[in-house]
Amino acid sequence: MTQLSFDVQLNPRARSAGEREEVLANPGFGQFFTDHMISIDWTEGRGWHDARLQPYGPLVLDPATSVFHYAQELFEGLKAYRQSGGSIVAFRPHANAARFNRSAARMAMPELPEDVFVQSLELLVQTDREWVPTTDGHSLYLRPFMIATQAALGVNHPSRTYKYMVIASPAASYFSGGVKPVSVWLSTEFTRAAPGGTGFAKCGGNYAAAFVAQRQAVQEGCDQVVWLDAFEHRWVEEMGGMNLFFVFGDRLVTPTLTGTLLPGITRDSILSIAAELGLRPEEGKISIEDWQSACESGELTEVFACGTAAVVTPVGSVKGADRGWAVGDGTPGPVTMKIREELVGIQYGFRPDTRDWIHKIC
Ligand code: PLP
Ligand code: COI
Repeated sequence: MTQLSFDVQLNPRARSAGEREEVLANPGFGQFFTDHMISIDWTEGRGWHDARLQPYGPLVLDPATSVFHYAQELFEGLKAYRQSGGSIVAFRPHANAARFNRSAARMAMPELPEDVFVQSLELLVQTDREWVPTTDGHSLYLRPFMIATQAALGVNHPSRTYKYMVIASPAASYFSGGVKPVSVWLSTEFTRAAPGGTGFAKCGGNYAAAFVAQRQAVQEGCDQVVWLDAFEHRWVEEMGGMNLFFVFGDRLVTPTLTGTLLPGITRDSILSIAAELGLRPEEGKISIEDWQSACESGELTEVFACGTAAVVTPVGSVKGADRGWAVGDGTPGPVTMKIREELVGIQYGFRPDTRDWIHKIC
C-alpha cells in the first residue's frame, strides 16, 4: 500500500463552532468550504512530493501557468456521509481514484496512487469532521482535482509539474426544492463530446464547453441540458453533471458507455443494485424519437438522472427545438424513488452494505 507522509499545518483561523453551525444550517451546494485543504505536488523526474494539509486559502500562481491557458486539469466529486451510528464514511472512494487516473491518462497528466488519493480524503475529512453535516440528506462534498502548474506557453509537450488538491464543501441537495422532477432541454445545436475526445474524462474543458448549452436550456425554461451524440444529435448520452436511466416497466435502461459519456459511479451502483430491487438493468441506445414515442404510448413510465451531486432526480418533461413532451405524471415515479431510497440507504447506513462500498473514515 502506497502512503505519503503529510505535513500537517492546522488553520489558526479555523471558524468557530457558531460560525460553522450558521453555514451548516443552509449550506446550498458548493458555496462554502471547510477550514483546510490538501495539496501534493508532482515534478517530472521526482514524482509526488510535498504532501500537506494546510489552511484553506488562495493559491499564488504565475500568470503563464499552463492550466490558465490550455486547461490541462481534471477533477473528481464524491461525498462523505455522517451515518446514523455516528461514523463518517465515503462511498466507493477507490472507484473515484480509478476514474481520476483514467482521466489523468487521457489528459497526459501523472497518475496518483489510489491509496494516496483515498489517504488524502481521509486526512481532510478527519481534520474537518465537524463540517460533515448532521442534517438528513446533507453531506460533505469532496472535490479532488489536479492542475498543470508549469509556467510556460509552449504546447509541444504537457506540463512538467502538477498540483493535486482536495477541497471540501458542505452540501444540501443540488437541486433546490427536494426530490421534484426537473425539466430538460435537448441540445441539438451543441456537442459535448465526440469519439476520441475527452467525454469519458472528468476534465474541466468538458464543463467549460457545456455552459453555453446549459444557459440555453435555462433560457428555454428548462433546468438541465441533455447531451446527444455528436453525429446525428439523436442518441441520448447524458446530462451536464448526471447520467440518465429510462424505466420501461421493470426494464431499466441507461446509455452504453461509448467513450463519449462519463462513467458515473452512481450509474454503475444503480446497475448493480437494480436486480435486487426486481428490475432488469441493461445498457443500450435510446434515441429522442424512441424517448418521445415510448412516453406517449405509456411504455416508458419514468426517467431519472443520477450522480454524486444530484443523487437520483426524476425527469418530468422534455423540450427540444421542434418537440416537447411529458414523462409520467409529473410526480417522482415509484421505481425512481425505490432506487433513490436504496442508494441513499446504503450511503447513510440504514440499508446493509453488501458490496463493501462504504469506506469508513472516522
Ligand atoms: N456525468 C457527468 C457529466 C458528471 O459530471 C457526473 C458527475 O460526476 C456524472 C455523470 C455522474 O457521475 P457520478 O455518479 O460518478 O457522480
Ligand atoms: C458531481 O456530481 O460530482 C459532479 O461533478 C456534478 C457537478 C457539480 C459537476
